[in-house]
Amino acid sequence: MRDHYLSRRVAGMKPSGIRKFFDIAATMKDVISLGVGEPDFTTPPPILKAGINALNSGQTHYTSNYGIIELRRALSKHLEARYGVHYNPETEIVITVGGSEALNLAAIALLNPGDEVIIPTPCFVSYQAAVILAGGVAVEVPCKIENNFDFDPDQIRAAITPRTKAILVGFPSNPTGAVSSREHLLEIAKMAEEHDLIVLSDEIYDRLVYGVEHVCYPALPGTYDRTLLLGGFSKDYAMTGWRIGYVAGPEHLINGLLRVHQFMVMSAPTVAQYAGLEALLNGEPYVQKMVAEYDRRRKLLVSGLNQIGLATFEPKGAFYAFPKVDVTGLDDETFCDRLLKEEHVAIIPGNSFGAGGEGFARACYATGYDQLEEALERIERFVGKL
Ligand SMILES: Cc1ncc(COP(=O)(O)O)c(C=O)c1O
Repeated sequence: MRDHYLSRRVAGMKPSGIRKFFDIAATMKDVISLGVGEPDFTTPPPILKAGINALNSGQTHYTSNYGIIELRRALSKHLEARYGVHYNPETEIVITVGGSEALNLAAIALLNPGDEVIIPTPCFVSYQAAVILAGGVAVEVPCKIENNFDFDPDQIRAAITPRTKAILVGFPSNPTGAVSSREHLLEIAKMAEEHDLIVLSDEIYDRLVYGVEHVCYPALPGTYDRTLLLGGFSKDYAMTGWRIGYVAGPEHLINGLLRVHQFMVMSAPTVAQYAGLEALLNGEPYVQKMVAEYDRRRKLLVSGLNQIGLATFEPKGAFYAFPKVDVTGLDDETFCDRLLKEEHVAIIPGNSFGAGGEGFARACYATGYDQLEEALERIERFVGKL
């Protein structure tokens, strides 16, 4: 091992648990993958066209560090119209390289070595990594199936120490599909105020909700001044490969993030910014169509898993189901490993997503209906053999 060349922060980092499953799946024929967390849809045609037109009209240069003003204006309008939260497009929005960059910018700009960030888990695999890479400490607070994987505000409160700098919430949730309640989010707002904390709210799945309204955290009273809203286009508009997202917040915080962004990436991909603009202006009918289709698949997968005996709570957002697989007597890692090798279905062990994920697995239903039906048959056959 030559790990001494790497920084301690990087050398000590575990690779993503998701990767291992992709690598095994890639060696097999006939795999049904419910592993990847991305839409199976390609980007809607008008958005594609806007990207192509941008290229053809010579939009091949850097943009303002903040991103093109047309996109920031459209985004500001969009957030105001949907959630009633106002961000000044000139100074309070930065267009980023996906929600991923927004997350890392926030961590780098906010954290001093040893600063703690409280994170309800199971969560998106990059949350802990972003905090650790920025020199901070990720403090995991497990959510429970009994609470439909929403966090328990008392547990969050109990995790606050003098080193706590921020709370990072991500709802609708990857990997559980949970949404949080307005009451619980208001509790977070109260704690942030009392302990002078920043809140990072990752709402990248805001449009993918089923039968509930998305609660936009910075729209809650008294939150705006100490909140960064992280968002994107990848999931809502099926634009993962374009690499575009955003962060919005009060100018005093955005100023800091912009400095990091400026030195790290300069500006988000120009073509993607024009495509993102089209998404905001004309993407709505496509979002609604995709949401309706995800909902149909969600019902199929959740009821199918429950019928097989893998208890699955009803996810109200994103595009994941989170069945309890350890009822079979296998731990989540072994269950997923054997399911992949024996029945060629890829799902991800829950422990990859942090504390509270053990015993569960993440199955993404952003895949064709027929594929999901076939996957359910295979899972049933596998569970029947155990
Ligand atoms: C909760 C959450 N936040 C952020 C991201 C980052 O998405 P992107 O960088 O494609 O915008 C993801 C992607 O899986 C996610 O699940």
